[in-house]
Amino acid sequence: MTDRYQRFATSKPGKAVTKRLGLPAPAPLRRYEPGQPLLDGAVLLGAAPGGRLAGALAEVLGAVGAPTFVPPDEHLREVATGAGARTWAFSPDEDEDEEQRFAALVFDATGIADTPELHEAYSFFHPVIRRIESSGRVLVLATPPEVAESRRQAIAQRALDGFVRSVAKEIGNGGATANLVYMAPGAEAAAESTLRFFLSARSAYVNGQVVRVGAAEAATVDDWERPLAGKVAVVTGGSRGIGESIAETLSAQGAHVVCLDVPQQGEALTEVANRIGGEALQLDITDSDAPRKLADHVRRRHGGVDIVVHNAGVTRDKTLARMAEDQWHLVLDINLSSQVRINDFLLDADVLRPGGRIVSVSSVSGIAGNRGQVNYATSKAGVIGTVDALAPVVASRPATIKAVAPGFIETQMTAAMPVTTREAGRRMNSLAQGGLTVDVAETVAWLASPGSAGVNGNVVRVCGQSLLGS
Ligand SMILES: NC(=O)c1ccc[n+]([C@@H]2O[C@H](COP(=O)([O-])OP(=O)(O)OC[C@H]3O[C@@H](n4cnc5c(N)ncnc54)[C@H](O)[C@@H]3O)[C@@H](O)[C@H]2O)c1
Repeated sequence: MTDRYQRFATSKPGKAVTKRLGLPAPAPLRRYEPGQPLLDGAVLLGAAPGGRLAGALAEVLGAVGAPTFVPPDEHLREVATGAGARTWAFSPDEDEDEEQRFAALVFDATGIADTPELHEAYSFFHPVIRRIESSGRVLVLATPPEVAESRRQAIAQRALDGFVRSVAKEIGNGGATANLVYMAPGAEAAAESTLRFFLSARSAYVNGQVVRVGAAEAATVDDWERPLAGKVAVVTGGSRGIGESIAETLSAQGAHVVCLDVPQQGEALTEVANRIGGEALQLDITDSDAPRKLADHVRRRHGGVDIVVHNAGVTRDKTLARMAEDQWHLVLDINLSSQVRINDFLLDADVLRPGGRIVSVSSVSGIAGNRGQVNYATSKAGVIGTVDALAPVVASRPATIKAVAPGFIETQMTAAMPVTTREAGRRMNSLAQGGLTVDVAETVAWLASPGSAGVNGNVVRVCGQSLLGS
């Protein structure tokens, strides 16, 4: 599961060769380590005049202890003095060796009310984009076009989508990412968990994404290292691969995890559950009474459940003409229908507690389609359909449902691919490398956080900005 090409390309002789031949040089990505600062350097915070989020952003940046600078713009003076940010002005004469570099460039674009004002985004980023650190972050905050105050504003806010996705493609070489957060008016108080995730190393492989945060009452998080403390989580397919990583990450963030998998995986399942101080539940989710057994288990032991992660999934790849009926049935039943049955049962029986989180693992194949994966892509698109259909239903509990859509992740499954397919999968994204299981797990944990109440109905790709379906 190692990326030998990446190791070569980042070695001294390798760097020279890849540069000469114009080959991709995938940068090592900064990933979360316990106790590390959220950002490894300074932040430059900018805003279009009339924006509504710069103050809230400066507060979060202050809370995470990131040295924050703002351009010397009149409309940012209050932010600078109020939140302890310092002013910093770009000077083209600065000595290249001494130049100020940034771990994050954050821009509040909510003040952009018409298309000519998109120039504000250009003029903030143009002089400083080269100064982004390796594994740095570009984060643009905007108003969801559908709630904009005018048609002109809606158009301009929508245009930012193309801006951010393109920036992501330009800075990916250094392992840096760019993402866009559409923050509804009133969502400011529910935004911290999302801002922390996108600024931190936890979002290493989430790139070129557009996320929506709605107005919601988010629970206060006292300890951002352990936001899931006191929560009970179920992770299906938790004995290995991405599911094992999700179980470990949720547990590290404070949750008590029930790891669920088929009886054939019993030994590995117990090992994972014991290692993280959770519990093992042997269950085939396709069994007709699986929803009831799962509900009984969590109700009897914990009085209910707070987080359900639908991760169990399989592939049985064949082109449609060659696909046997049982290959269709198996994939659809495991990846989609059993999830639908479990959700319905948990919701009908009120086993998912208020504040509950359902997070499903979809796939980029479910968005883009894939040759030889008609069954798999149908099931994974159905997972997204489940999110769409249930988001408004669970909102009133209140609870949320969302999905992650991984791209190429380094697992046993992808290690077994033919070498050319594997190399294409690894490189066909803006970061020119595969993601790790922990990248999916960290994204699931952010979505599962009590602080992420405003993130409902979202599908977030964990794909390094894969070219597929984008
Ligand atoms: N690996 C990737 O690159 C990738 C990319 C996109 C999406 N995904 C999705 O991520 C999820 C995890 O993938 P992975 O690569 O870790 O796969 P994996 O095969 O290593 O793990 C899947 C787990 O699900 C369990 N499972 C299968 N059928 C089950 C059933 N009927 N009941 C209970 N458990 C069952 C398996 O026993 C296994 O432990 C899957 O949904 C997969 O489709 C993976």
